[in-house]
Order: sequence, then C-alpha cells, then structure tokens
Amino acid sequence: MFASSTQDVPEVRPVPRHIAIIMDGNGRWAKKRFLPRVAGHKRGLEAVRDTIKACAELGVEYLTLFAFSTENWRRPPDEVSFLMGLFMTALEREVDKLHRNNIRLHVIGSRERFSAEIVERIERAEARTAGNAGLVLTIAADYGGRWDVMQAANRLLAQGATRLDEAALAANLSMAYAPEPDLFIRTGGEQRISNFLLWQLAYTELFFTDLLWPDFDAQALTSAVASFRSRERRFGRTSEQLPETQRRG
Ligand code: IPE
Ligand code: IPE
Ligand code: MG
Repeated sequence: MFASSTQDVPEVRPVPRHIAIIMDGNGRWAKKRFLPRVAGHKRGLEAVRDTIKACAELGVEYLTLFAFSTENWRRPPDEVSFLMGLFMTALEREVDKLHRNNIRLHVIGSRERFSAEIVERIERAEARTAGNAGLVLTIAADYGGRWDVMQAANRLLAQGATRLDEAALAANLSMAYAPEPDLFIRTGGEQRISNFLLWQLAYTELFFTDLLWPDFDAQALTSAVASFRSRERRFGRTSEQLPETQRRG
C-alpha cells in the first residue's frame, strides 16, 4: 500500500514520482490552423509520445493521461467516433514500442460503452506489458473521478461492507496500484479538474499552462517539474515543521 496524503505524510522527492495530465486544447490547436478539430487529436498523439519519453528519462515512475472523460460522450458523434478510432489505432500501433521500452500499460475507466474490439485490445495490451518494470503508463478513458469513487464504494458494498473507511475505499479505486499523483498538469489554459482523479488529487501540486496539448513537449514538462520543485509541500504542517531540505523561501 502507498502512503495516503490524509492518513500519513507522503515522501517528498525532487522529481515527481507520479505525474497526472489533462491533455486539453486539441480542438483549439486545430481551429487556430483552420483544420477540423480531429486534426488536433491526431497531432496530440505526438505530444503523448514525447511526454512518455521525457517522463521515462526524468525518472518519473507513473504517468497518467486523461484521454476521454465520462462527459466526453456528450460531444458530436463524429468526434466521438474519431476518438474511438484513434484509440484503437494507438492500441494497435504503439504497444510494441511501449513494450520494447519496458513500459507497463494500464487503462482505467468504465469499459461498458467501448466496442468489444477496443476492450479486447486493451486487455491484450495490458497483458502483454504486465511484466514490464519501467514506467507505469495509465490511460484514463471513459474515466470520471466520481465514477471511480462510486465503483469502489459499490464494490465494497457488494462484498458486504456496512461501513467504509478511507483505506478500504482507496484500495478499491481503479488506480490502487499507484501512489497519489505528486504533480498534476493541465494544458489548454482552463483551470479546472473536469472530474479527473478527484480522490487522489487531495494534496497534489497543480500546474496549469496555456500551451495547447499538441504543443506540449519535453521542455514544457521540464518547466512544470521546475515549478513543482519550487513548491513547499506541507500536507497541513507549518513550514517550520518540515525538514530543512524541504523548506522553500
Ligand atoms: C482534449 O482536447 C482532448 C479530449 C478531451 C479528448 P479538446 O478536444 O478538449 O480541445 P479543446 O479544449 O476543445 O481545445
Ligand atoms: C477534459 O477535457 C477531459 C480530457 C482531456 C480527456 P475537456 O475539454 O473535456 O474538459 P472541459 O469540458 O473543458 O471541462
Ligand atoms: Mg477541452
């Protein structure tokens, strides 16, 4: 089990152990170029590749990318189909490379609305990379923070629980295999969580950038990590209570 930020004080490291990203701004990137929105999604896949590589090089252990939210089904059907197609293609074409790079893939979210082919490819990709010991890459697809908390609670109730506690709930969340994110990044200029990892973001450092997702790269990641390093992570304590090396300013 990993330290819970509300039950224990997590270890503070100079390089975030877990980075979670809301990849936003694809549509606006395309619009600026008079291209259809979906051209932005296509280009966003390149930023995904760059970010995975940069995280592995930095020594990040867990990278979590928000690819499709439970609310994104509200988009026009054409755009939803395009995104499903892109997800299928990526599952087919990118997994070899992930595997060669010792990356372990997890996909979190409800699988109920995905086609049987997508579900099968997800399962195959997860099984294929399950033995890898490098970066743990999580793609959140048809994921919502509220969905996650509810599925965890319902699972406990189904097991006969009459009272829930934090540890039991956390152990049943879909990312129970990872520590809470140290750093959250959202591109695209919006400053909101949009139903991402609600439970786990309790003490995560938040970083917002106006860069649109297709323009995000290793340099942008370095800036976010530099900002992270400048933060004083107090977890409720006073600055004076922190070890000397963790005090800022
Ligand atoms: C993020 O980019 C990708 C998904 C939500 C799938 P958007 O498509 O939200 O791009 P903007 O916010 O409209 O620019
Ligand atoms: C959040 O982006 C979801 C993903 C990046 C997958 P949205 O573009 O859907 O968020 P809102 O609607 O602006 O909050
Ligand atoms: Mg958006």
